[in-house]
Amino acid sequence: MNWRKLRTFLLTVLVLSLIPATRYYQIDLPLLRFLRGSRHVDPLSLQLAGEFVENNLGTEQDPDGSVTVRMIAQQYLFIPHCVLVPAGVPVHLRITSADAVHSLTFDGTDYKVKVLPGTISEAQLQFPHPGEYKMPCREFCGAGHYAMRSELKVVPREQFPVLQPEERGNCAAQ
Ligand code: CUA
Repeated sequence: MNWRKLRTFLLTVLVLSLIPATRYYQIDLPLLRFLRGSRHVDPLSLQLAGEFVENNLGTEQDPDGSVTVRMIAQQYLFIPHCVLVPAGVPVHLRITSADAVHSLTFDGTDYKVKVLPGTISEAQLQFPHPGEYKMPCREFCGAGHYAMRSELKVVPREQFPVLQPEERGNCAAQ
């Protein structure tokens, strides 16, 4: 092999390897997602794309009869402001923070979910009887901390499926 050919070969390899290097954010996304873990979420783009866009928040009926509740904590409120779930079924809570560390609690229960920016906190809850629970923040998160709360309405199990999706998602208007 002469040197000119070798140099051409090496230059070609260099140029070809530069292309993926400038596109690493496209090529390596699944790998990055794997390294960060599936619970990683970008706190700055919660409202723009992905699981926590506004019309995906609130309560969603799962095929097995349980429900999934998605919420965002941010200074100084929880979104949605009022959450509605059926009594006596498993509630899968998925919540993340847009800013500081918060703690979602349910008055009258031992449930306490720490919420951090950049990750999804998951909790399995269940409320046996219809009723209303205040959901205050119990982690000091700034000047508005003591007013930071949402409300949970537990409705009879058979009442939940007949509600409209927007009524399930946010019960503040009811
Ligand atoms: Cu949020 Cu205290």
